[in-house]
Amino acid sequence: VKVLSVASEFYPLIKTGGLADVTGSLPKALTAHGIETRTLLPGYPAVISAIGKRRRAAELDLLGHSASLISTQVDANALYVLELPELYDRPGGPYLDETGADFPDNSARFAVLSLAGARIVGGAVPGWRPDLVHTHDWQSALTSVYMRHGMDSAVPSVLTIHNLAFQGQFPLQGLPELGLPPEAYTIDCLEYYGDVSFLKGGIQTADMLTTVSPTYAREILSEGLGMGMEGVLRARRRSLRGIVNGIDTDVWSPEQDPHLICGFCPETLARRGLNRRYLTNRLGLPDGDGPIFSVVSRLTWQKGIDLVIACVPHIVDGEGRLIVCGQGDHDYEERLHEMARLYPNHVAVSIGYDEALAHRIHGGTDFIVQPSRFEPCGLTQLYALRYGAVPIVARTGGLSETIIDANDAAMAAGAATGIQFHPTTADELCHAIDRAMALFRQPDRMTRLQVQGMKTNFSWETSALQYASLYEELTGSLCPARP
Ligand code: ADP
Ligand code: GLC
Repeated sequence: VKVLSVASEFYPLIKTGGLADVTGSLPKALTAHGIETRTLLPGYPAVISAIGKRRRAAELDLLGHSASLISTQVDANALYVLELPELYDRPGGPYLDETGADFPDNSARFAVLSLAGARIVGGAVPGWRPDLVHTHDWQSALTSVYMRHGMDSAVPSVLTIHNLAFQGQFPLQGLPELGLPPEAYTIDCLEYYGDVSFLKGGIQTADMLTTVSPTYAREILSEGLGMGMEGVLRARRRSLRGIVNGIDTDVWSPEQDPHLICGFCPETLARRGLNRRYLTNRLGLPDGDGPIFSVVSRLTWQKGIDLVIACVPHIVDGEGRLIVCGQGDHDYEERLHEMARLYPNHVAVSIGYDEALAHRIHGGTDFIVQPSRFEPCGLTQLYALRYGAVPIVARTGGLSETIIDANDAAMAAGAATGIQFHPTTADELCHAIDRAMALFRQPDRMTRLQVQGMKTNFSWETSALQYASLYEELTGSLCPARP
């Protein structure tokens, strides 16, 4: 089966969060099932400068923009990069400029990406045509809209919703010419409370919808977490599936992680101490015996960063330390800096995106804190498990189903892997931190929890099989590695 994946992020080339991890690692896992994936990405500066050997696969005229489609290979991954400097070659991130504001032409930037996907399906690349197209989030969701409207030969499509909070909503006035017929702008497709929503268009037109955990697939049908899309999603619930994300165990391997000063495994857990000391030294925290709590995250309301800030005095009172690596809302960044100024021996903050530090934190901290208000899947807790850092998570979405709370029964059964709390409030987070501190004072229990977490398997094996089965259902072809 040949699959075209259309995505706005792809690890290791361009990443703001877990979306990149998934689009970057799923194709590799699918090859074992006889699935060949090629990924279409915008030609951001980081992507253009990272690709080496390249070949021009096609010239495309997309909504009045002339673009080159570059065919290239990164590691084992086949990519199509859409080279179109006027839309993608600019400073900033994939969606925001250097001041943190949305690019004003994001609607055009991602409509064009989606249209390029549809054109590849339509045969724009001589010699390669996919059997199925897989889109991710609002940025590529228009692909199936373009396929529905105005293409003679389409192929099955899957839209994965990684986060329903981002919907690609734009006012109709000011929207660039999308090249779609009037019927695409109705309530059955793009129209959304008087605006246009790219995600809604994808939800209405993709053959199959997935999201990144079974729990989140249920949650988004409710008013609480449906974020206005619960009606359209309920109407399509028979075509909606939850498949939990896997992790790339080559990139996240505590035994051979080049970012760690000392590799370790469950049998050599004590060696973790060296990474722990190195981490605190590098961040200017004094050595100490108290527990270290860490956050590696986008600094946003979703991630409950305000709750972490509220719990800082509590952590300090308990002789604990807090490390934060992240970037996002300026207000949170400021308040975290303020905490580090107030408690220099207890709080270290690194604002920015730092892949190496993220790995070092996982390999050295005692606890990873994720008080998310909602969490479609979450990858941080999965990396934490593998690296022997105990996750403290809000009981929501993927967090609730990937972490088993260390209550007495689960501890006795040897099943516990972390600490869960509910509801997502500062009080409950403080209470969870108390539980963590108590656990930390009982090294035997703490070690058992760490080892149990490290032995949990969240590699792509199981989930890739579920995607392979889904592709197989839609294309009618049998994927060879299916048992
Ligand atoms: P989300 O996609 O909602 O941000 P996930 O937990 O699925 O949440 O994925 C977050 C990914 O981004 C993880 O790979 C995490 O390590 C990474 N990450 C988040 N913030 C940073 C940062 N400041 N520096 C390095 N990596 C980060
Ligand atoms: C989103 C979600 C996160 C998920 C990631 C990858 O950004 O917020 O929970 O793990 O996508 O699917």
